[in-house]
Amino acid sequence: MGAMTATATAPANIAFIKFWGKRDAKLNIPYNDSISMNLSNCQTETSVEIDPKLKIDEIRVNGEEVQGGKRERVILVLEEARRLAGSKHLAKVESKNNFPTGAGIASSASGFSALALAASWAYGLKLSPREVSKLARLGSGSACRSIPDGFTYWKKGTNHDSSYAVQFAPVGYWEIRDIVTVVATEAKKSSSTEGHALANTSPYFGVRLKKLPNRLSLMRKAIREKNWVVFGETLEEEAVDLHVMAMTSRPPVFYWNEGTIAVMQSLRSWRDEGLMGYFTMDAGANVHVMSLERDAAEIERRLKQIPEVKFTIMNKPAAGARLL
Ligand code: DP6
Repeated sequence: MGAMTATATAPANIAFIKFWGKRDAKLNIPYNDSISMNLSNCQTETSVEIDPKLKIDEIRVNGEEVQGGKRERVILVLEEARRLAGSKHLAKVESKNNFPTGAGIASSASGFSALALAASWAYGLKLSPREVSKLARLGSGSACRSIPDGFTYWKKGTNHDSSYAVQFAPVGYWEIRDIVTVVATEAKKSSSTEGHALANTSPYFGVRLKKLPNRLSLMRKAIREKNWVVFGETLEEEAVDLHVMAMTSRPPVFYWNEGTIAVMQSLRSWRDEGLMGYFTMDAGANVHVMSLERDAAEIERRLKQIPEVKFTIMNKPAAGARLL
């Protein structure tokens, strides 16, 4: 066996076209492809130490022992690494985020992608990026997109072997920014995992799936041509669709708060002045404001003046998971 300890860092990512609804909830196989960008200032560092003396896996995030569903997902990833390595030894996992956990900023993508890379090395596996992406997906679907660098594309696939993310464009390809705009810091009431499970109870689920092939190709083309307006309009349409589905599922889930609406409306009126910021939201109230580099500082300055905005985090496109 190779190394016994490994440490990795990995970014969160923001999806332009989203993962919503699972065809296979155990393997996190989605109904549709998705596209995202890695975030430079939302990073997790995770170390995995294999210790033959351990009787149970020890898992800590920001110094606290992890329990329940989250622990089970970490163990799923560790178990797969052990299966691939033919190892029975348990592990000590330490993870810390450089951004507030549970503030509705996806820490599962950065957490599980860092875990997958660190665990694969700690167990002495020499996995290809594709294999690491698959391993990360078992912990949290969107984590598979944080393995390649820059802008990444998750091919939905049909089974464990065919569902993984690849690079769509490198880090330096397009100087755009994601200003994470925090309007809610309490832990959200409904997790994205619960949202996925309800997705196909919405009458609009099928409607969105029909529209998606077109929307995906429009988004890919907008990125290829660096067409900011088409990018932004497609981005907002996709985000609103996700929330329409959540609000019409049974039971319905409302993620937005008054701050979400205030940010969306401000962006609209700023666009009339030529300041071209666009919104997207995941399964939470916080808004990811996408902007070109040239407008980012002014948009961030204005966002901070909205009373409901608690703080912002400026992100550039970033590398994927890295071994330290
Ligand atoms: C709305 O990957 O967090 O952010 O696999 O249950 O952990 P689990 O779900 P997760 O879902 C992400 C949902 C989303 C859209 C996206 O990031 O694509």
